[in-house]
Amino acid sequence: MPHPTFAYAELYATSVDVPVVKVPLTTENYAFDLQSMQKVADDFDGISLFYLCNPNNPTSTITDTEKLKEWVGHAPSNHYFLLDEAYSEYVTDPSFESGVAWIREEYSENIVVVRTFSKLCALAGMRVGYAVASPQMIARLEAFISIDNTNLSGAVAALATLDDEAFLALSLRTANQSRQLVEQTLDELGLRYLPSQASFIFHEIKGDVQTYIDRMREHGIAVGREFAPISGFNRLTLGRPDEMAVFVEVLKSFREKGWV
Ligand SMILES: Cc1ncc(COP(=O)(O)O)c(C=O)c1O
Repeated sequence: MPHPTFAYAELYATSVDVPVVKVPLTTENYAFDLQSMQKVADDFDGISLFYLCNPNNPTSTITDTEKLKEWVGHAPSNHYFLLDEAYSEYVTDPSFESGVAWIREEYSENIVVVRTFSKLCALAGMRVGYAVASPQMIARLEAFISIDNTNLSGAVAALATLDDEAFLALSLRTANQSRQLVEQTLDELGLRYLPSQASFIFHEIKGDVQTYIDRMREHGIAVGREFAPISGFNRLTLGRPDEMAVFVEVLKSFREKGWV
């Protein structure tokens, strides 16, 4: 897995004693170091599973589609790819391609794409998600899945949400408005950020980040955290536009005090 990334794959793997190798993001643009990850697996003669979160959490950036497709398409038969597309609905970069398209095409046997209703669909409390893979892969996965894993309320809510185009459009539109407002403010304040393709933004904070987090909390705002080993950046989840309007006012007041 790349490092940093969303931690759950690692937590599940280590709970069943599967060794996890963490490959740092590149230092120039915090991208996945595909070559180094491939090398780690090439040097190991067992089965490797690459956990690739695209867009990545916490950086909110996508991985170069051509490079990823090339790698997935030419991987040896003992290399598998778990593509976590929890945030794919937010992607605006036209170069992005979902692994689902590759499963439908030729690279089907070594990919599992996972998606969730927790983000754009706003159903995190309902615990509904799904995997997309070839029928053969799904049959193999089924041996490890508990039989009664989806609760009725979650299933009903998920189906209702899929039909609720107006809500999904509202969810996306407001996330985009929130992102625009935050990016505009960060630009004004000269704070760098990575190109956000998700419902959060990874941005620079001048000064000690933990002090910043504490001060925000004193103002009733729960911002995210730093993700070692990247220092000086904070992960901010995008709330509703009215919530982000409060955030930007507080951030600007911090600048006036010389805190950020
Ligand atoms: C990349 C990524 N995958 C999965 C999840 C969790 O999804 P779920 O609520 O379906 O467990 C998150 C939540 O933060 C996430 O960031």
